[in-house]
Amino acid sequence: MTRLVFVFIAVFALHTCLDGGGCLALRGVKLWVPEAVRAGSRVRLLCDYDLEQAALYSIKWYRGDQEFYRYVPKESPPTRVFALPGVNVDVSLSDEREVTLEDVQPRLTGEYKCEVSADAPLFHTDIKTAHMTVVDAPTEAPLISVERQRDFIVANCTSRPSVPAANISWLINSHQIPNSAPTVVSDAGGGRKTSWSSLQLAVASLTYPEAVMRLRCVAAIFKVYRRSSESVELVDDAPQIASVLGHSRSGAGRAYPAMVFAALLLSATSR
Ligand SMILES: *[C@@H]1O[C@H](CO)[C@@H](O)[C@H](O)[C@H]1NC(C)=O
Ligand SMILES: *[C@@H]1O[C@H](CO)[C@@H](O)[C@H](O)[C@H]1NC(C)=O
Repeated sequence: MTRLVFVFIAVFALHTCLDGGGCLALRGVKLWVPEAVRAGSRVRLLCDYDLEQAALYSIKWYRGDQEFYRYVPKESPPTRVFALPGVNVDVSLSDEREVTLEDVQPRLTGEYKCEVSADAPLFHTDIKTAHMTVVDAPTEAPLISVERQRDFIVANCTSRPSVPAANISWLINSHQIPNSAPTVVSDAGGGRKTSWSSLQLAVASLTYPEAVMRLRCVAAIFKVYRRSSESVELVDDAPQIASVLGHSRSGAGRAYPAMVFAALLLSATSR
């Protein structure tokens, strides 16, 4: 489900008071554009304003510098849509405050502007801008692989191609490992990006307090995509721990023998 995260732009717009009279002003223009949405979804962009006693002359919407929608109450019909590749305005769900776009695609990522103009006598105009990213999310979860190399465990996590690149983070049990490993991004063709991260854990003779350590990675793109890899069990070699493996859900994770990790544990438990 798409959760819209609205960017709130606070404004104290033009505010003019006529001599001895009331205020005729265009104030508090606010633009709500979701920070990120999934490709293919319907998006509602909202531009709110307070004209006080003045009448609305026009409201214009732009992507970048190109206008795609205009509402002028004095015209008939008041609504005009300008053809812009990839922009599908649903006129039945658009009016003098909002515009609804259907089936948005990654090419629509960019700056959105709403320009509000008051009618005579002041013709004040105010414009607000907000950025929206259209996300082409991976259809699958990230892949984790683990390998022992001498005194280290090397774990790799790869997120499938997406736009934009996913961020990868590492967790042991449910604790995020702070500053564990950077996300490296490479080109996957067609404008898509593959993200991966490689984590090195020093093997030491300490035992993790929770005995069984489950390592997994999470790939995230803003708030619209968040998937976890399967978790890999990193357990102590001791026989009593081995029985834990027998109870692990099949498919939930692979057991990885005999590793405990001083350096990592210190950073994971010190908070
Ligand atoms: C992790 O990725 C690196 C770099 O691509 C590769 O050399 C290494 O073999 C990978 N290790 C595992 C366990 O997949
Ligand atoms: C990745 O993380 C950084 C830092 O938290 C954040 O600024 C950025 O928006 C994230 N990118 C995505 C695609 O979620």
